Parts: sequence; structure tokens; C-alpha cells
Amino acid sequence: MSSSPVDPAVSGPRVGEPIPEHLLDAGERMGAEQLREYQLARLRATLRHAYDNVELYRRKFDAAGVRPEDCRTLADLARFPFTTKADLRDSYPFGMFAVPMSEVRRVHASSGTTGRPTVVGYTEQDLSTWADVVARSIRAAGGRPGHKVHISYGYGLFTGGLGAHYGAERAGCTVIPASGGMTARQVQIIQDFEPEIIMVTPSYMLTLLDEFERQGVDPRTTSLRIGIFGAEPWTEEMRREIEQRLDIHAVDIYGLSEVMGPGVAQECVETKDGLHVWEDHFYPEVVDPLTDQAMAEGDSGELVFTSLTKEALPVIRYRTRDLTRLLPGTARPAFRRIEKISGRCDDMIILRGVNVFPSQIEEIVLRTPGVAPHFQVQLTRRGRMDHMTVSVEARPGLAPDQRQLAEASIAKGVKDGVGVTVEVAVVDPETLERSVGKIRRIKDLRPE
Ligand code: DLL
Repeated sequence: MSSSPVDPAVSGPRVGEPIPEHLLDAGERMGAEQLREYQLARLRATLRHAYDNVELYRRKFDAAGVRPEDCRTLADLARFPFTTKADLRDSYPFGMFAVPMSEVRRVHASSGTTGRPTVVGYTEQDLSTWADVVARSIRAAGGRPGHKVHISYGYGLFTGGLGAHYGAERAGCTVIPASGGMTARQVQIIQDFEPEIIMVTPSYMLTLLDEFERQGVDPRTTSLRIGIFGAEPWTEEMRREIEQRLDIHAVDIYGLSEVMGPGVAQECVETKDGLHVWEDHFYPEVVDPLTDQAMAEGDSGELVFTSLTKEALPVIRYRTRDLTRLLPGTARPAFRRIEKISGRCDDMIILRGVNVFPSQIEEIVLRTPGVAPHFQVQLTRRGRMDHMTVSVEARPGLAPDQRQLAEASIAKGVKDGVGVTVEVAVVDPETLERSVGKIRRIKDLRPE
């Protein structure tokens, strides 16, 4: 990987080196003790704000027999009830807003592929906080004022595009608001406008990479130096694939609309060891998804967030459905990290009693020579048995006997690594659906 300066005129430090002290914002400079004190004060204010202004929280707290003032330490948060996506859906569209509508400057919504969408709102202050945390994330990724940022997250009700946009502006960067789609044009724009940074889902990055190659352009020769990838799970194997094919640093950004959008947690480029949670705004917990009990630091479970500074839509112990574990801080010592998200509770396939995540399949596919990083998982039922087929694209020119070898090698990898028997079909290049945003890996064709 290139270790040359990003852009000598503007970049200062080289990408991959620790951030200089003066680029840390006030929140990042807090020591651990100061951060805990700040969190407790903000938590108490948030519980009070939610209880006083949102009927659903008042009902839930009353039913659980807790009042905001019962929170005297951070550990007391565990006495408060969880909030779920169903709560937001039931309050559709604006029932959980804690400020008058006249103070809400923007709304976003989830795609609502299943049932009603969830709608989230932001005050002016919330939008400013959001821009701050995304700007901080971009700096942690190695971005510096003066860099050009090509944003291929979708603009619109999805939080990816606009969230990244205002954060990049706040970071002093020049924004190229490409949004998703029109892939050939994006590749042209990247060549002509010469951005140093791209923000995009990892699966759409693969689509863009294929387009570079289709146009006969070596992606390693572009101006891009940093990719900030998120909005869907991706593995270390995918990081290696993208870093090598593009000659960039690929780092992870995490977030969800209900908590804010992108910028809840960010991986630092100098360590690439999981994502630091911006804990001055979002308080993390990890719980056992079945028993709801708190997990010890280091143990895996479902990530839960409580917002500490949000005005329009405070969230108390929001169940993200995302699976990870909490780890101590490294590059930003006061902030705990989350390990790369391994999957969502809802993405977990239970195949003949064995839990399977698409990310486990991704790791195996990306390790297999001869196949492209494009794959899809199909679930069908044969008789009373569930059946999984993994379709993977061959790299161009792969000979038939090598296809069979790749199929056998992936099937063995899944059998040995995950513990289930699956059918593997290596299909022709360019035959599987391409992502333009968040990819859907699983096609569930089983009868209800
Ligand atoms: O995806 C916000 C976002 C936009 C994050 C752009 C990062 C970059 P939602 O559409 O509400 O918001 O989807 C949130 O996406 O609960 C995770 O399941 C998944 N997700 C987001 N970031 C990551 C990531 C945006 N880095 C849901 N790794 C979350 C794994 C992620 N999954």
C-alpha cells in the first residue's frame, strides 16, 4: 500500500499515522474519568427529557417502576426498559419525537422493506452534532481539511448520503455528492475530480471496481487514498480485497438511523482494530439477545445504544439487533471500541440447527482462488429439510475443472468452518445482481 502523503499541499500528516493532537475536538480530548462524569450528567438529562416529552417512554418507565431520578450511576441505566424498532413503528410517523414539530429541521426514514418504515427526526442542534461526529469520523479515517470526498451513499430518506455530506463539509473537505447509481459516470467523475476519499457501501465499492476494470482503468492508479465503508456488514477478507485492488486504506464506519445515522462509531486508520464508539454522544451496552442480560466487556451479544445529546428523538436502550462485543479503547483511549459487526440477529440463518451468518460465507468465498467476491445465498426447502445454495461468480477465464475445484473448496470451507453442508454453484462472471447501496445477500425462497 502506498504510504505517500495524501496530498502534500493540504494533508499535513501521512495517511496511516496517528492524528495530530490539534485535530482532536473537545469531546475527543476528554479523559476517561471526565467522560464518565459527562456521560452520567447527559444520561440523567436525556432520561428526564424522554420521560417528560414522549408518552411512550413515560408509559414504559412507569410500567417498569423507574423514574429518571433513579439513575444515579451509569450502571443504573440497566434498570430502564429497552426500546425497539417496533416501538418506533407503532409511533409512526412522529409519535416518539420529544420536541414540537416546528423545531424539527429534518426527517429521515428507513426503507421499510418489512412493514411500516421508521421515521427519525433532528433539531438544528442534532444536525450539528451529527455533522460533528461524522467530521470526527472522517478525521479518524485520515481525512483532512482540503481533501475531496466522493460520496456514493444514497442521498434521500436514507441517512448515508446526507449524513456523510454534512460531516465532510464540517471536516473542511470538498464534497462530491455523487449518491448511488449511474456507476459508469461515477467512475468517470472519480478520474476527473480526483478525490482522495470515497464514502460508500463496501458492496457498491465492488460494483465500482468492476466498472473501473470494464473501462480499462487500473483502480490502483486513481487519486483515492482512503475508503470509509459501512451501512452493511463486511469482513477483514473484504477489507484486504478492496485495499489491494484500489491501493487505499479501507476503514469501517457504523451507525443507524434510529440512533443518528453514520458516525456513531468509526475505525481509526492508524490501528484498524475495530470501531471507536463516540461515547460522548452514544452510550453503548452489549446484552444477551435472548435473556436481555448485560454481557461482560469482551463478550459478544446485541449492541444497545442510549443517546446522550439528542433532542428530537432521544433513544433509551435501543436494541440495534447488531452483533458485536465491546473492547477497551486504543487509538482514542477514553472511548470503547466495538468489534466489526459480525451480523444482525435477523440475518442469522438457522440451517438444520446451525447458526449461519452471511459474513462467515463471505470470509470463505474471499479466500477461495478463482472466484470473484460476488456471492448470494439462496434458501429453499426440499421435503422437510432446509437447504442452502451459495452462488459465487467465477473470475473471467476460469476453466471448468477449476470451477469444480472452487465449488468443492467453498463447500468444504463451510462444512469445516461453520458446520453445515451447503451446495455451491460457481456461476459465470457478471451474472449475479450487483449492489448500488446496501446489498441483500440472502434470498429466502422457503414457503412460509
Ligand atoms: O446504514 C447508517 C449508515 C450509513 C452507516 C452509511 C454507515 C454508513 P440504517 O439504514 O438505519 O443506517 O441501517 C442501520 O445497518 O443497524 C447495521 O445492521 C447496518 N450497518 C451500518 N453500518 C454498519 C457497519 C445506516 N459498519 C443498520 N458494519 C445497522 C455492519 C452496519 N453493519
